[in-house]
Amino acid sequence: MTWRVIVSSLLALASIVMLAIVAVNEPARMKKFDEGYQARSIEAGAAIFHANCISCHGENGEGGIAPTLNRADLFDPNGRIKEVGWNGTVENFIYTTISGGRPLSFLTYQNNKMPTWSQEYGGPLRIDEVRNVTAYVMNYAKNWEVKEGEATPVPTIDAVGDSITESALPAGDPVRGEELVTKLGCLGCHQTAGGAGPAWFADQTANGEGIGTRAGNRFGEAGYTGAATTAEEYLRESIVQPNANVVNKEDGTPYIAGVMPQNYGTERLEAQDLADIIAYLLTLK
Ligand code: HEC
Ligand code: HEC
Repeated sequence: MTWRVIVSSLLALASIVMLAIVAVNEPARMKKFDEGYQARSIEAGAAIFHANCISCHGENGEGGIAPTLNRADLFDPNGRIKEVGWNGTVENFIYTTISGGRPLSFLTYQNNKMPTWSQEYGGPLRIDEVRNVTAYVMNYAKNWEVKEGEATPVPTIDAVGDSITESALPAGDPVRGEELVTKLGCLGCHQTAGGAGPAWFADQTANGEGIGTRAGNRFGEAGYTGAATTAEEYLRESIVQPNANVVNKEDGTPYIAGVMPQNYGTERLEAQDLADIIAYLLTLK
């Protein structure tokens, strides 16, 4: 045997040993990677949930004007999914519900509908964002105190109604308006600047006009179908009667009517809330 043969045999042996070491550790390494990935996904999902879901489902999924999400039967394979005849997994059920929304609702939560969220179906969120928020909701099953039972009763509010002229609004506070726009999930669909999504509040148009400027022009545009005659009325109308005039996208085609929730005026906002939101939107010139 020459020294060459000995060296190459030793090298071959060494690589087999190394491969074996890697193979033994691989599942642990993958598990760690998966856990890290899962944690980041849940974290990203939490931010998405906060911006888009709490206005209906509550800060901690406790429910409100939409079903409670931190409840045991939603995550029980023999619970909710059996009841509705779903054949897939709980995770798939939640992912699909969020992606497509429930245009035809089978629960009646004060006539609120679960909006469509995935861009695949015309919603505002990317697929990875829907995956992240699904991971966050799935995490309730583990980390949250899972409660039995029904949604907590809705606090009654003195809603402002859907008329744009009937009652004068109080003076608005733009600082509170900005908070409300986040809290109510408006920014899930509207952006204050840049990014994708329908009807950005600012910078939507090629000439960089924000909603505060656009509001004063919309009712003078050809094809306007609403009844507003001032910027304030236009904003009020857009919020309490979203379908009175459905605006066009940048490419000139209209947004789909009915995507914007229809019950802000009739169920969700008091006069002061509406005044504050309008005052804030008017600052976005
Ligand atoms: C405009 C109010 C509204 C918003 C905002 C909203 N939902 Fe919903 N959601 C609903 C309603 C109403 C239902 C019940 C639908 C029905 O009638 O079956 C629902 C149902 C669900 C369900 C299924 C619950 C069940 O028991 O079957 C999940 C999961 C869910 N929503 C997650 C989310 C997530 C995640 C977000 C944010 C990305 C979100 N929702 C935002 C109103 C809303
Ligand atoms: C589920 C998505 C969604 C949510 C949530 C939403 N909107 Fe909208 N909104 C839309 C869409 C789509 C349009 C464009 C179609 C139309 O005119 O109705 C729109 C239009 C508007 C307009 C008119 C924009 C323009 O350029 O003339 C205003 C103002 C507005 N929304 C305010 C709000 C406010 C304030 C909230 C929160 C209280 C809100 N929206 C929540 C989807 C949404």
